Amino acid sequence: MTSAQIGAYSTGVGLRLAHLAEVVADRPPVPWFEIHPENFLGNPHASELLDEVAEHYPISMHTVGVSVGSASGIDRAHLKRVVALVDRVKPFLVSGHLAWSTHEDAYLNDLLPLPYDDESLHLLSTHISEVQDALGRQFLIENPSSYVAFTHSTMSEVEFLGELVARTGCGLLCDVSNIYLSAHNVAFDPQRYIEALPANAIGELHLGGFTAEADEADAGGTVLIDTHAAAVCEPAWTLYTHAVRSFGSIPTLIEWDNEIPALPVLIAEARRADAIKTAFLAQEERCDAVG
Ligand SMILES: [Fe+2]
Repeated sequence: MTSAQIGAYSTGVGLRLAHLAEVVADRPPVPWFEIHPENFLGNPHASELLDEVAEHYPISMHTVGVSVGSASGIDRAHLKRVVALVDRVKPFLVSGHLAWSTHEDAYLNDLLPLPYDDESLHLLSTHISEVQDALGRQFLIENPSSYVAFTHSTMSEVEFLGELVARTGCGLLCDVSNIYLSAHNVAFDPQRYIEALPANAIGELHLGGFTAEADEADAGGTVLIDTHAAAVCEPAWTLYTHAVRSFGSIPTLIEWDNEIPALPVLIAEARRADAIKTAFLAQEERCDAVG
């Protein structure tokens, strides 16, 4: 199933293990689910239930462990397992992070940043092409949540992502909440960031919650942590409206990974995103009618 077939209005929900049995038993009104393959690889019972979910819902697959930013090479054993799951579940999108989480044999349970320079660009382009070759399809790269900026970066994050798209043909997963919190943490204009992204490459949008903590480096300041442990905040919804105006009606996902609420709470968040897309499309139609 392609993104277009999923429907222009639909917003999916991240499927976490806490809701897996409920989804299989009750088949709630969710247009599609996004899964992390890492939650199912090595968990035979969950993997069996996933097959049932995939029979009834389109699936987007979002890997957090392939580590395309690793200087020592991607985790090929993990990639092989992900490819096998992709072949079985047949997701309509496959995505991962602009980050690294492994070095040689060490697995670091985090999504770590890298500087935006020619060396990183070459490394990432090579690894993304390798992932796309293994998958036999396009891979979407998600913009990270940032807490620091490298002084030796030679290009902005948006320029870097645009270059990756141009060099590899990869798509982009635009996490609107990541843009909001990164803009707060490292001080840039989030609307201009969205406007500078290559709109044709955007295949999916993410929305999630964060946690504000006191910034130890800035008395009285706050740092926003990408915890996915809360509802989407109002300024992120405003930024999402701007993203919909910039990119059109793109499949959107509500991410909530910690302190996970009942499924209806996630569905209500998804419906709010749908309402924003519906309003945008209605306005477009009115403009077309006038024009
Ligand atoms: Fe995300």
